[in-house]
Amino acid sequence: MADNYDETKHFLSIADWRLPELEKLLELGAKLKNEQKAGKAHRLLEGKSLAMIFEKASTRTRMSFEVGIFQLGGQPLFISSQHSQMGRGEPIKDTARVMSRYVHGIMIRTFAQSVVEEFAQFGDVPVINGLTDLLHPCQIMADIMTVIEHKGDIKDRTIAWIGDGNNMANSWLNAAAKFGFSLRLACPEGYDPNPEILAAAKQANPDGILVTRDPKEAASGADVVTTDVFASMGQEDEAEKRLQAFQGFQVDSVLMKTAAPGAVFLHCLPAHRGEEVSEEVFESAASVVWDEAENRLHVQKAIMATLMQ
Ligand code: CP
Ligand code: NVA
Repeated sequence: MADNYDETKHFLSIADWRLPELEKLLELGAKLKNEQKAGKAHRLLEGKSLAMIFEKASTRTRMSFEVGIFQLGGQPLFISSQHSQMGRGEPIKDTARVMSRYVHGIMIRTFAQSVVEEFAQFGDVPVINGLTDLLHPCQIMADIMTVIEHKGDIKDRTIAWIGDGNNMANSWLNAAAKFGFSLRLACPEGYDPNPEILAAAKQANPDGILVTRDPKEAASGADVVTTDVFASMGQEDEAEKRLQAFQGFQVDSVLMKTAAPGAVFLHCLPAHRGEEVSEEVFESAASVVWDEAENRLHVQKAIMATLMQ
């Protein structure tokens, strides 16, 4: 429990939620998806507004939240920090209190996790984490939804993470702690996941978590192989150095062949073909990245409907 706000009224981290509530989000996401495809409209947030604050670039997160709130009968407000007073130094605690007087929910993509936490502390509407340097929880919920669609379940599956111990890897660890699936992370030395998140995941799921320097050890027999860019947003200056450090960490056909028969490939996108993933794997039948991107829409509608109704 955070000291200054009720974590369950926000979606800042998968670690903040109990497993039954996470499962309900996935079930609702699947229901909204199926019913929407059958032509049913869900006006669950009629007349409500979602502020979407972006301090970093985005294609999928912006579009999926914007279309999602619209489909639920609500209204999105796109706010880029550079074109708002936030970019000129208005304190977060003031922005959060003002926004809470106008909107029914706030989605933020930013750098420090402390920024989303400060919004939750000072605002009085639900805050949703649309990516920080530390975490990307909405993406991992979409990824889990995609694994369930393609593999039938998540709990008994083995997920191989190849590459940087970044915001995606940290959120996979949080998810493995809750859902109990097996997660093997292959990261180069110096690029491990967050140590506290790793320790908590190992404590919650002692037999399920492995960190190795060997991509083959991680991918061997895995049901899902997944990766992300070597240099995340904000790390552009390190791109060259990281390219060297991540030699041998590309998900290519040779690595995919070590995975279980029928294994799928996930990537949150955008992807850098020829770096973290080969063109061949990215465009192969095993690649379910478009389903994964689509599921952002459905699972985030479930998150908004659950928090903002
Ligand atoms: N996967 C993801 O969050 O994509 P965007 O950066 O395009 O939002
Ligand atoms: N790890 C990447 C994810 C992008 C969706 C980044 O933070 O840039």
